[in-house]
Amino acid sequence: MPTPTTLPLLFTPFKIRDITLPNRIVVPPMAQYCAIDGTANEFHLVHYGKFALGGAGIVFVEATGVAPEGRITNGCLGLWNDVQAGALEPVVRMLKSHGTVPAIQIGHGGRKSGMQRPWHGNGPLNEQDIARGDKRWTPLAPSAVALADGWPVPKEMDSTDLARTRDAFVAAAKRALSVGFEVIELHMAHGYLLHSFLSPLSNFRTDAYGGSLQERMRFPLEVTEAVRAALPAGTPLFVRISAEDGIDGGWTMDDSVALAHELRERGVDVIDCSSGGNTPRGATNANLQRAPGYQVPFATRIRNETRLMTEGVGLIRDPDFAERILQEGGADLIGIARQFLFDPFWALHAAHHFGIDPDFNRWPQPYAWWLEKWDKGIKAREAIERA
Ligand SMILES: Cc1cc2nc3c(=O)[nH]c(=O)nc-3n(C[C@H](O)[C@H](O)[C@H](O)COP(=O)(O)O)c2cc1C
Repeated sequence: MPTPTTLPLLFTPFKIRDITLPNRIVVPPMAQYCAIDGTANEFHLVHYGKFALGGAGIVFVEATGVAPEGRITNGCLGLWNDVQAGALEPVVRMLKSHGTVPAIQIGHGGRKSGMQRPWHGNGPLNEQDIARGDKRWTPLAPSAVALADGWPVPKEMDSTDLARTRDAFVAAAKRALSVGFEVIELHMAHGYLLHSFLSPLSNFRTDAYGGSLQERMRFPLEVTEAVRAALPAGTPLFVRISAEDGIDGGWTMDDSVALAHELRERGVDVIDCSSGGNTPRGATNANLQRAPGYQVPFATRIRNETRLMTEGVGLIRDPDFAERILQEGGADLIGIARQFLFDPFWALHAAHHFGIDPDFNRWPQPYAWWLEKWDKGIKAREAIERA
């Protein structure tokens, strides 16, 4: 196959503020639930490092708690102290040394904090989890309303909690920058703290932080403003939203468009469009048909109506499909999560598929020089068999 003269959009570098992504392929945050005391270990280094070896343009480190009580599970990463930041430094170095932009999602679990790891049930902690060493704590939330029966009743955040949590987001963002992360994402999705302020299903406050849409947006926007103010002008800020709750009376796509306008005014660059999660039925929306690209229409609408950049994510596995989303203006960036767990070399395989890397130059050098010979050998063999 001749090498194409123009690059597919998927492999066209993309500049956001001062950061140039080598391609449009994003590994979105995926919690691994295997940190101890919020601190990364060798698993995280290999786990994230392999996506860099595999050619991803930008890799997001998983949802990382800005405070101990903000971790989604006992096994989640944290960034409330310098030891935790230092443990992520090798991950950052590994990503950068292979040309991948290092990024991190910072968040607070709100009333879903301190839950079970998914493989132990994804519910509230039970006695078996405690016997395994997990600790319980009282979660914080906009209102003292449990996610569902059997879940802990959170503490309604008072003004001190709000200020402390906002400051914790800022401190975590600064720590992330201090060890070399180049992109920050705020977790405003999946029923966690900031989403739970937005949604009328979880925010029943009667003060300035609850009630109308504008009031429910107040705390998430205050956090956004404070974090943006702490970032250098050249650092991109992403926000992951749940574009809709998918439940009657919940957060809607129209609300998301209104939020995106506000986020844009506060210096957010990219809206990463996920959905759901404000229920005990799992981290993301249970009501959407899980077809390829099922959340891309959210990214498209926000892109069209706000002129913000967007990331589309959700069952995108096929390189031609990913390219079509970009060509049709469906999103600016393509998030590929589970497919990267299945195939950490997805990006390099996609480059191969498009015929833009015949000499394996995009592969890590120690692999490339062998793979080129290997490939020539295979092709020579195939030619003999055809003759
Ligand atoms: C193991 C796993 C962990 C996840 N953890 C997070 C997370 O930390 N933060 C987040 O916003 N989304 C998280 N997600 C959602 C993914 O980022 C992604 O949006 C979702 O898997 C849909 O994309 P996919 O169909 O390409 O997998 C997680 C998904 C998986 C599979």
